[in-house]
Amino acid sequence: MSALAGRRVLVTGAAGRIGLATVERLNELGAVVTALTNIEHPDLKADRIVIGDTRSEADVARALEDAEYVVHLAALAHPSAGTPYDVFSINVVSTFNVLAQAGALGIDRAVIASSINATGVPFNPHEITPPAFPWDEQAPVDIADPYSLSKQTDENTARMAWRRWGIDVAAFRFPHVNSSDVLERMADHARRKPAGGLREAWSYLDTRDAAYAIELGLTAPVSGAQVFFVAAGTTIAPYETEALLDTFAPDVPRSRRFAGREVPIDLTAARTVLGFEAQHELDLPTLDLEH
Ligand SMILES: NC(=O)c1ccc[n+]([C@@H]2O[C@H](COP(=O)([O-])OP(=O)(O)OC[C@H]3O[C@@H](n4cnc5c(N)ncnc54)[C@H](O)[C@@H]3O)[C@@H](O)[C@H]2O)c1
Repeated sequence: MSALAGRRVLVTGAAGRIGLATVERLNELGAVVTALTNIEHPDLKADRIVIGDTRSEADVARALEDAEYVVHLAALAHPSAGTPYDVFSINVVSTFNVLAQAGALGIDRAVIASSINATGVPFNPHEITPPAFPWDEQAPVDIADPYSLSKQTDENTARMAWRRWGIDVAAFRFPHVNSSDVLERMADHARRKPAGGLREAWSYLDTRDAAYAIELGLTAPVSGAQVFFVAAGTTIAPYETEALLDTFAPDVPRSRRFAGREVPIDLTAARTVLGFEAQHELDLPTLDLEH
C-alpha cells in the first residue's frame, strides 16, 4: 500500500497537463486530493476542488485545510504565456505563498515544478549551450528571460522555506513534458532538425512519468530543499548521443561518454534519492546522423 493512501494532498494547477496526470495517479494510490485550480476541467476528479488563485493568501489557506502534502504546479508555464511581468510575478508569488503557508502550518513535504529552464539555457537569446555534459544540477546558470528567472527564484524560495520552517521540498527540473503522441511528433521533428534539441540536451518526459516522479518526490527520503533533473533516460532524437554531441556541441566539455541514445543529463540524484526511472520511453531507431 502506498504511503500516500488516506493522506490529503493539495495539488495546485491541478487542471493543467501535469496536474491532471498527478491527480489521477494520486487518486489511484488512494490519496485524498484537494485540487486548487483557477479553471474548471471536466477530467479533474478530486475529493475537494477549490477554484482560486495561488497568489491569494485566502484561497491558498482554504486549499491547505487538512493537507499533509503539497504538490505545487500552478504557473504560467512558458515565457510567452503572459507578459514578462505576469510570468515572473504570478510564478514567484504563487510559489512563495504556497510554500510559506505550508511551512508555517507545519506541513513537512512539498514537491514543486521547477524546470530545465531554471538553468536559463533553452530560452536564452544569446548563442549559448549547456555548460558541460552530463549536465547536472550544480552547473552554472545563465538567465536572460523572466520565465527562467521565475523558476530559478522558485528553487531559492524552496531553500528559504526549508531553512525557515523545515519543510522538505523536492524541486523538479522537468524537461518538455507531454503525452506520448506529442512526444512522437517531436521526435520526428528532432530527426529532421536535430540541432534544435541541444539546449534541452534532447531531453523529454512522458506526462505519466512526471506524475510518477511527483509521487516519489512525496514519498522518497528527500531531506532539505533539493533540486532534481528528472527526464527519460534516453533522448528524443533517433541518433547516438555521442554523434549529436560531436556534431552540435564539439566544444562543450564532456566528462564521460554516453551509451546509445542516453540522455546527456546527470540523473544520478533522481535515481539514487528518489529511485526514479522513467517507465514510458519513446521506442526510436538509432539512425546515422547526416548533417
Ligand atoms: N509541461 C512542461 O513541459 C513543463 C516543463 C517544465 C516545467 N513545467 C512546469 O510544470 C508545472 C505544470 O506545467 P503544465 O505543463 O501542467 O502547465 P499547464 O499550463 O498545463 O498547467 C498549469 C496550470 O496552472 C494554472 N494556473 C496558472 N496560474 C494560476 C494561478 N495564479 N492560480 C491558480 N492556478 C493557476 C493554469 O490555469 C493551469 O491549469 C508548471 O509550473 C510548469 O512551469 C512544465
